[in-house]
Amino acid sequence: MHRFENKIALITGSSQGIGAACALRLAEEGCDIILNGHKFDERGEKLIADIKDLGRRVTFLEADLSKADAATKLVTDAIAVFGHLDILINNAGVEKKASFLEVTEEDYDLVMNTNLKGVFFCIQSFVNYCRASKVAGTVINMSSVHEEIAFPNFAAYCASKGGLKMLTRNLASELAPFNIRINNVAPGAISTPINQDLLNNKEQLEKVIQNIPLKRMGKVEDVSAVVAFLASDDAAYVTGSTYYVDGGLTYHYEEQ
Ligand code: NAI
Ligand code: BGC
Repeated sequence: MHRFENKIALITGSSQGIGAACALRLAEEGCDIILNGHKFDERGEKLIADIKDLGRRVTFLEADLSKADAATKLVTDAIAVFGHLDILINNAGVEKKASFLEVTEEDYDLVMNTNLKGVFFCIQSFVNYCRASKVAGTVINMSSVHEEIAFPNFAAYCASKGGLKMLTRNLASELAPFNIRINNVAPGAISTPINQDLLNNKEQLEKVIQNIPLKRMGKVEDVSAVVAFLASDDAAYVTGSTYYVDGGLTYHYEEQ
């Protein structure tokens, strides 16, 4: 049985990494897909071919989600593509490494605007549509274990994901009367381009892995499986939650 038959999903920042895996997973389960990224390139082309091979409809919309008007427009454009939208996955995100005292306003703005402001206005645009069209929509935000635990040298990133934690808690209450569910997924350390420096540094990578109870980096498919659950009717009674996909990292503590 296909859980997403006749459903349409918009997945932001889906050219690569976790977003691309979410697009493929939902398409495998019958969903039509709107992809998004800053720029359409060969990664988007390949993903479109793969999703078409699965027998699904798919398109790619360019947008820079660090800007509120672009975020709002992306959602209205996505609705116009197939005339409908059921699922919004706010996946696009950036991180910038710097000690707190060295964070520039430019990097702070980039991180907060992409990870929090863009998400806020994508949701607002989607909710306006769901209310007007009586769609029981569902929203999934790609948060992080760092909505909860510290990550030294990534203060703005943690602030943005901490903001997403409360945005989701708050909107679960505000949107329930419209039959709209909203949840966060909080990945731990997943092998994607955002972690390229770590993946290239064998010694550091080993330390990270030793701190993860399941003793491995996460795969993008580990995350997309949970996203698919939350997007589906299997999660019909789940709203306002964060699902950790972290191999046990968040609540791990060991006496050395
Ligand atoms: P990634 O860097 O491969 O993917 C992020 C995607 O977002 C890229 O395709 C990028 O182009 C897109 N993006 C960034 N800014 C954008 C903007 N202004 N407009 C449109 N698209 C934009 O990294 P990954 O790992 O796939 O990250 C996806 C999400 O997962 C992010 O929100 C990240 O914070 C989150 N995450 C990742 C973890 C990991 O260990 N890989 C762990 C926890 C959370
Ligand atoms: C960050 C990754 C990091 C992971 C675990 C994610 O939010 O984007 O760089 O490896 O958290 O700390």
